[in-house]
Amino acid sequence: MDVPVNLPGPTLGVIGGGQLGRMLAEAASPLGVDVIVIDPTPDCPASRVASDQIVAPFDDPDAVEELADRSDAITLEIELADPTTLESVSVPVEPAPWTLEVIQDKLEQMRLFEQSGVPVPRFMQVDSPGDLSDALDTLGSPIMLKARTGGYDGRGNIPVSADDDREEVMAAMGGHAMAEAFVEFDRELAVIATRGVDAVSVHSVTETIHEEEILRETVVPARTGRGRLERAHVVARQALDALEGRGVFGIELFETIDGEILLNEVAPRPHNSGHWTIEGAVTSQFEQHIRAVLGWPLGSTERIHDAIVTANLLGDDRPSRPGSLHGVEHVLATDRAHLHWYGKHEVRPLRKMGHLTMTSDARPRDEVLEAARDLRDRLSFGE
Ligand SMILES: Nc1ncnc2c1ncn2[C@@H]1O[C@H](COP(=O)(O)OP(=O)(O)OP(=O)(O)O)[C@@H](O)[C@H]1O
Ligand SMILES: [Mg+2]
Repeated sequence: MDVPVNLPGPTLGVIGGGQLGRMLAEAASPLGVDVIVIDPTPDCPASRVASDQIVAPFDDPDAVEELADRSDAITLEIELADPTTLESVSVPVEPAPWTLEVIQDKLEQMRLFEQSGVPVPRFMQVDSPGDLSDALDTLGSPIMLKARTGGYDGRGNIPVSADDDREEVMAAMGGHAMAEAFVEFDRELAVIATRGVDAVSVHSVTETIHEEEILRETVVPARTGRGRLERAHVVARQALDALEGRGVFGIELFETIDGEILLNEVAPRPHNSGHWTIEGAVTSQFEQHIRAVLGWPLGSTERIHDAIVTANLLGDDRPSRPGSLHGVEHVLATDRAHLHWYGKHEVRPLRKMGHLTMTSDARPRDEVLEAARDLRDRLSFGE
């Protein structure tokens, strides 16, 4: 492929200016790409790194039009963008707004993957307490009931068992939901898969460790057998094939106790499970996304350390207060530890405030994971 690239490069418009937008802007800089973000929070995490921020809701048509006027291409780092608005803009939007629209509704997403032959947990549409009873009968108790739209970090998911009050559960769900069979898994995995102009790439399979449905740590390579890793890559590519448009897709998977790989869900953007690629791969997920969206050749996804662990820094349980981190000197004094602070102005319970990455070419993964957890324990959020 011959893609002429001249510097200074193009301007990339990004819907969303959170940590993903910030890390996109960090990766864009050496490529000579300018980034402009739309985000409703003034001085959002990406704003310190991007060349400009348009302060507006993610789905504001005027703001999106202004972004299109000032950009050569548009992408997103959050699913709250409006597909209809994006369809009408004058510059290329990647991934395709259609893909965003399908992914925004978990039920539609699962239907698409099922129709495309991607292995998924059994699921059913649930619009009433009666449907909920049917789901419990058909899928077995408990089930995982999921809000069809707007859920993240497990908010919007409720495990429901046969003894729960069905009216109450459906009221809490706002009337429309999707039920999934409860998956018994050995571990959760994720794959960063990227579609470029004429090539697809996959990074090494990530093991994702969740607690209370929130991602806490990632371990790479995932601590499972070669056959399961290969299967994870096959399922990730199948999921990518079902979607349209270029860019990075974060593909969340279950590795069941029977050794099957099932798709959980897909994010049409860089993903928390791929933060390890910044220090751990030749090309990070953020650089790969920029290359893909701009139609440039993809980079190598080769892993460059034997063990790479990330640990999320989540806000503690105390009430919201200004975002500050204490104990950073411990990270700075630790060999092969890397701090990523997202620059959010407020610490809130379980909010993603930053992450740590540790790499090793000598120590086993379990040890590196313990070291990263210990290091995280030495950090605390201040007033
Ligand atoms: N069917 C299921 N069976 C068992 N556990 C599940 C099931 N669905 C989800 N979970 C657990 O809940 C976590 C969050 O679920 P899911 O990915 O659907 O939610 P989300 O709110 O979209 O999450 P995020 O935004 O963090 O990716 C999963 O990573 C997994 O640990
Ligand atoms: Mg998820």
